[in-house]
Amino acid sequence: MQTIISPSILSADFADLKTDIKKVEPYVPWLHIDVMDGHFVPNISIGVPVVKSIRKITSLFLDTHLMIENPIKYVDAFIDAGADLITFHYEATKEKTLETIEKIKSRGKKVGISIKPKTQADEIKSYINLVDMVLIMTVEPGFGGQKFMQDCTEKIPLVKKYSKNENLIIQIDGGINETTGKICTKLGANSLVAGSYIYNSQDIKHAIETLK
Ligand code: DX5
Ligand code: ZN
Repeated sequence: MQTIISPSILSADFADLKTDIKKVEPYVPWLHIDVMDGHFVPNISIGVPVVKSIRKITSLFLDTHLMIENPIKYVDAFIDAGADLITFHYEATKEKTLETIEKIKSRGKKVGISIKPKTQADEIKSYINLVDMVLIMTVEPGFGGQKFMQDCTEKIPLVKKYSKNENLIIQIDGGINETTGKICTKLGANSLVAGSYIYNSQDIKHAIETLK
């Protein structure tokens, strides 16, 4: 399976988002949308109305990364807006992890569970076989352009070991470029998110090719 590249629009120009989405559209199957609430992470980005507008201008698979408290409360709104996959943070769900997974599945959408750098793979062991994707963060969530934390990649083979699903998507997000991307795919990751590496590049097509 080819690595699924998911460009993060967090590094795009929000005043010219359509142009920036069209720049990556021919080369990738997915688009990564970072939703931040200023509580779960110390930053605020975009929300439901923006996802709704993006849905109208692209048929890319909308990979929606919710970095928000109490994600279950917003699942319906993001799915109604056009999200194809909802990834929530394990740390944000408290006792509602299972309920959140079931809620997303009940709407017929793909579900991802994400862990921050300090959360161990073991903590989500019992959920790995209930989801379509595990997103391992390699930076503290909240901002683009941070330095890749290589320690976190130790979780990739562990997640693979705990999974009974050969189609499980293991996605890595944070500090991905040509070099760090290779480290992750060698360990078994099959989806890479990249924001600043793609959008700050002079040759976007080439930057994406280097990640594949
Ligand atoms: C960080 C976000 C990432 C971010 C990655 O909280 O989840 O998706 O956009 O940015 P880069 O690729 O620049 O590290
Ligand atoms: Zn993200």
